Amino acid sequence: MSTLAIGGLLSHPALSEIIKTEGKLKVALVGTGIRGITYWGKRLMTEYPDIVEFVGLCDINKGRLAFGKDYIGTECSTYPDFDEMLSKSKPDLLMVTTVDATHDEFIIKGLGQNIAVFTEKPLTTDEVKCQAILDAERKSDKDLIVGFNYRYNPHYTMLKEILNINRVGKITSVDFHWYLNVYHGASYFRRWHAYKEKGGSLWVHKATHHFDLLNWWLDSDPVEVKAYGELEHYGKNNSFRGKSCRQCEFKDTCKFYWDITRDDFLMKLYAANEKYDGYVRDSCVWREDINIYDKMSAQIKYANGVLVNYSLTTYSPYEGMRIAFNGLDGRIDAWDGIPWQREKKLAQSQLHAQEMNQEIESSDFEEIYVMDNFGEYEQIKVDRESGGHGGGDKRLQDKIFVDPNAQDPLKHSAGSRDGAMSVLIGIAARKSIEEDRVVKISELTDLKSKPVRN
Ligand SMILES: NC(=O)c1ccc[n+]([C@@H]2O[C@H](COP(=O)([O-])OP(=O)(O)OC[C@H]3O[C@@H](n4cnc5c(N)ncnc54)[C@H](O)[C@@H]3O)[C@@H](O)[C@H]2O)c1
Repeated sequence: MSTLAIGGLLSHPALSEIIKTEGKLKVALVGTGIRGITYWGKRLMTEYPDIVEFVGLCDINKGRLAFGKDYIGTECSTYPDFDEMLSKSKPDLLMVTTVDATHDEFIIKGLGQNIAVFTEKPLTTDEVKCQAILDAERKSDKDLIVGFNYRYNPHYTMLKEILNINRVGKITSVDFHWYLNVYHGASYFRRWHAYKEKGGSLWVHKATHHFDLLNWWLDSDPVEVKAYGELEHYGKNNSFRGKSCRQCEFKDTCKFYWDITRDDFLMKLYAANEKYDGYVRDSCVWREDINIYDKMSAQIKYANGVLVNYSLTTYSPYEGMRIAFNGLDGRIDAWDGIPWQREKKLAQSQLHAQEMNQEIESSDFEEIYVMDNFGEYEQIKVDRESGGHGGGDKRLQDKIFVDPNAQDPLKHSAGSRDGAMSVLIGIAARKSIEEDRVVKISELTDLKSKPVRN
């Protein structure tokens, strides 16, 4: 057994430039939904009160905007109109936490006014918007930061360290499979994520995390993608359906019945504000107009020759992932959340809530196995953290707000090119299914794939 030190602090030009030595960082945020008001709202107010101040909040839903202000605990002004917020609040940093397909509008406007922008993943949902964002950043004096919190998860950081030292020789292929359980997976089919035009499908909304990890771990860019996908569990694939879980006549029989009324916070954030925009948080997972895939599989070829086999499942009994890196001299295996590989039984129904919770609890360890060809295997243990995306959320914020000038030996920090390369794999996968062909990354934007990044 061995333990490698987890290093890697953030050095991001976009950040070091805007973090002030005197006075607080003025932040304006658009999108006062759950991610915006919890992780980027209340948490900033609680953890960095001496570093950050909110100068404006914006959302198209006036009820959610008012609730968000109250929940965050800020005295700043609220704006139903984004342009007004940008001109009046004069932020140092704009944070974009809206519905995925709308990110481009705010990113481009922010950069256009030479304001540094942070956007939640995914960068955007199609290649035209992606190109427009890249063009806007090139014209701007300021940079874009993309919130890839998964990179900061200690388990994934350890994989990066092992890969960086070429522990099993040149990597030639990767097997990567992600499993969303029937609680977390279903949650994407209850709301806007269920429509390609809003979230780009889970190829983009969810898999952007996984494709970014691959790009970062392999330190190379994708060149082409062939994908398959179907919708054969959720959506039209059921004999009955209702409007929402609250109004459903099949409450007693539907295994996917979800009682939002038991969660006071979600009732106040979403249900109380449905009247303004018709956004129903507990919509039926069997809606006939759902148009995303619920099983997805892709082969991705990288500029350094690595071949990746990737899949995403959305109705697994358990939440987890498996990954293996095949090298010329051996293999690296890792996994998360596989129930029978842990001594403790995991309550699948609780996992999603725990994951969204920003309280970090350290609970035993994650494993990585490294095995040499003709040799022995080595077990590497990494302290496990539950909550806030495996501890990645907290680390990302600490590095943004506390010490942006620190060294970044493992290249944790992510900008527009990283955001683009990860969504372009998902966009290529979607196109590959729709057009039944191999899609080249170079078809999509003017970015050129590099065998070694930087
Ligand atoms: N990094 C992560 O792990 C992570 C986790 C959760 C969510 N996210 C991302 O955060 C973002 C928000 O997700 P969420 O779960 O909070 O969604 P949400 O539905 O709770 O909130 C989205 C908010 O955006 C608002 N909005 C939509 N269009 C708008 C517009 N044109 N102008 C202003 N406001 C608008 C909505 O009214 C809503 O309040 C998404 O991009 C999502 O992908 C990232």
